[in-house]
Amino acid sequence: MASKYQAPRGTFDVLPDTARARARIEGAAAAIFARAGYEPISTPAFEDTELFERGVGRSTDIVRKEMFTFEDKGGRSITLRPEGTAPICRAYLEHGMHKLAQPVKLFYAGPFFRHERPQAGRYRQFHQVGLEAIGTDSPLADAEAIMLLADLLAELGVPGVELRLGSLGSLEARRAYLEELKSHLRANQGDLSKDVRERIDINPLRAFDSDDEGTQSVMASAPTIVEHLEGDDAEHFATVRGLLDAAGIAYEIDPTLVRGLDYYTRTIFSFVCEGLGAQSEVGGGGRYDGLIEQLGGPPTPAVGWAAGIERILLALGEEGEAPRRDAFLAVADETQRQRALALASELRHAGLAVEVDLAERSLKGQLKHADRIGARRVLILEADGGAQLRDMKSGEQRPVEPGRLLEEIGGARP
Ligand code: HAM
Repeated sequence: MASKYQAPRGTFDVLPDTARARARIEGAAAAIFARAGYEPISTPAFEDTELFERGVGRSTDIVRKEMFTFEDKGGRSITLRPEGTAPICRAYLEHGMHKLAQPVKLFYAGPFFRHERPQAGRYRQFHQVGLEAIGTDSPLADAEAIMLLADLLAELGVPGVELRLGSLGSLEARRAYLEELKSHLRANQGDLSKDVRERIDINPLRAFDSDDEGTQSVMASAPTIVEHLEGDDAEHFATVRGLLDAAGIAYEIDPTLVRGLDYYTRTIFSFVCEGLGAQSEVGGGGRYDGLIEQLGGPPTPAVGWAAGIERILLALGEEGEAPRRDAFLAVADETQRQRALALASELRHAGLAVEVDLAERSLKGQLKHADRIGARRVLILEADGGAQLRDMKSGEQRPVEPGRLLEEIGGARP
C-alpha cells in the first residue's frame, strides 16, 4: 500500500514500538533531572536566523552548511533550530531569568534540525534531551551536569559508554591558544587538507577532527590547550576532575577534544559509545561562559549538555516494551456493546488497561483480534448480564460474577 509520498530524506516516522522506547528515555531523563532540581522548559521549533549565527557561530559547520533557513511571509529570516542552548539563553534573557535564584537549572526534550548527510545515527530531524545550568561558574555545576548524563546513560543501560573530558580555558586563554594553533597550521600548510587550510583563520580547532591523513600528522604535533591551561582555568579544570574522581565517574582526558559549536569555554565533554561506529557520541556539552553576553546580556557563566535520543536507541538496540493489556472486552451478543464500552471506561478509571472491539466483529472475530493484539485475557459479556473470563493462553474459560470483575481482571495481572 505504498503511496508516492515518503518521509523527507534524513527524517523518519516514529512508529509505536519506537515511540514507547523513546518515552522511556524521556521519562527516565525527566525523573533524574527533577530529582536534581532542574525544571522543564520548551522553546519554539524555529527562531530568528541571527540567534544561531551569533550564538552557535558563523564559522561553524552548523551555521555555514547545515541550517534549514527560509524567509517567512513577512520577509524575516527564520531557521529551524539546529540546537537548544542558544534558544534557551535567548529565553533566559527575554524573561529576565537573571532575577531568579541562580543558577537557573533547566531541562528540555524535543526535535532539532540539521541539513547533514544522512547516515546511521545522523539525521536531518533528530531529538535531544538536554539540560542547562545558567548563572554560575562553579566547577560543581560542571561536575553535576556530567554526573547527571552519566546517571541517565547508566539507568537506561547504554553499554560501553566512555567519557572524554577536555578544557578550552577562558575566552582570553582560548583566544591566545587559537593564535598559537593557527601559527602551527600555517607553518605546515602544505600537509593540510584543502578544507582545513581554507579554515585556518575561521575555525582552526576543527583540524583536530579531520579524517585527512596529512592533517592528522600535522595535528599530532600541534599544541593542545589542555597543556596550556594556566591560573584559574587550570584550577577550574583540576577541580572538575577532582569532583568527578570523588563521585567515582571514570573519564579520559582528551586534549584534542573539540565540539562543533563556537560557544564553549573551559570544560567540554563527550560521552561516546564505541558500538555506534562513525557517529559514536551519544551526548556531550560543556561550559559556555560567553554565550549570554554574546547575545546581548550581562556576563553570565553557564554549563550544559544534550544527548541524542536516536543515538541512545541505536546503542540500546531495543524497541519499547510491549504495551500492557490487562483484558479485552468482547461481546457474545450485539445487545452488550453499550455495556462493554461503559464497563471498559469504569475499569480504565480503576487503572486497568482494557480494550473493546471497535470494529463490531463476530465473537469469533473478537477472540482472534484479542489474540493478535496480545491480550492475555478476554472478558466475554453475555446477553443475560453474565460474563465469562477466558485465558487466551490455556483457552480455559470460566464464569465470573459481575461484582468481582475488578478483582478478577486486576488481581490476575501478571
Ligand atoms: P551537539 O554536540 O551538537 O551539542 O549535539 C548533542 C547531541 O545531539 C550529540 O551528542 C548527538 O547525540 C546528537 N546529535 C547531533 N546531531 C545529530 C544528528 N544530525 N542526528 C542525530 N543526532 C544528532 C548541542 O547541540 C549542544 N546544544 C549541547 C549543549 C547543551 N552544550 C551546552 N549545553
